[in-house]
Amino acid sequence: MKEKSIVIKIGGSLLFDMNHNINAQKISDFCDIVKKHPNYDKIIIVVGGGIIAREYIQIVRSFTQNEALCDTFGIDISRINARLLISYLGSSAYPLVPKSIEELSIANLQNRIVLMGGLQPGQSTTSVALEVAEYIAAPKLIILTDVGGIYNKDPKKFDDARLIEHINSADLTKLIIKRKNNLQAAAGEYRIFDTVSLQIIKRSNISVFITSGLNLEKFKRFWNQGDENIGTIVSDKK
Ligand code: UTP
Repeated sequence: MKEKSIVIKIGGSLLFDMNHNINAQKISDFCDIVKKHPNYDKIIIVVGGGIIAREYIQIVRSFTQNEALCDTFGIDISRINARLLISYLGSSAYPLVPKSIEELSIANLQNRIVLMGGLQPGQSTTSVALEVAEYIAAPKLIILTDVGGIYNKDPKKFDDARLIEHINSADLTKLIIKRKNNLQAAAGEYRIFDTVSLQIIKRSNISVFITSGLNLEKFKRFWNQGDENIGTIVSDKK
């Protein structure tokens, strides 16, 4: 059966290698998987800013201390990254990057994959992905990042961090607030879930799947076979 629509967020961390070079192989591998979409009528991909966005933000912050201005650099870089994927996808993709939900509505009139970056200051591209999913009534959002899902502690710092396979929005909020001792709100640092994204998960019925995109095998299983056990599922459905 065809599912109507889906939103994918590809984290900026996957687009660049350790030397900050563009990971062209990853981009083409990812796009080749998405291009063949047996199950979806409408696909929106939100692309993150990655290390390049953070480099710009760091410099702008040292010049101005204006967080909103820093955010706009992150937004611009994520849009450039989205254009990179459009250039690979060619006629499978809508040629422009929508800069607002209204522009997304217009892009959606065409039967093509739509690529987006950031929308407005004060949030992450994960929030954009959730805003888009809510707006187009997509039941699912899949987030590809550089860790295997949500863990009980930071897997990059603790070897004994345990993957949480299922979590509801209330427990996710508690976990993230506890971990950050408050929600970090600086440009470039809205890690996996920021305040806006947590709010949208809470009020919507969207199931969010978080998995590693370092190796695309799990994503392939999700995409081609509908395997949902690929990392963490955030859902309030019983
Ligand atoms: P992200 O931090 O969301 O991209 O956007 P990312 O690199 O994919 O992040 P990870 O890998 O999920 O952690 C880059 C920056 O762009 C600005 C923020 O400063 C954000 O940190 N941004 C992005 C906005 O201000 N508004 C948006 O709607 C999106």
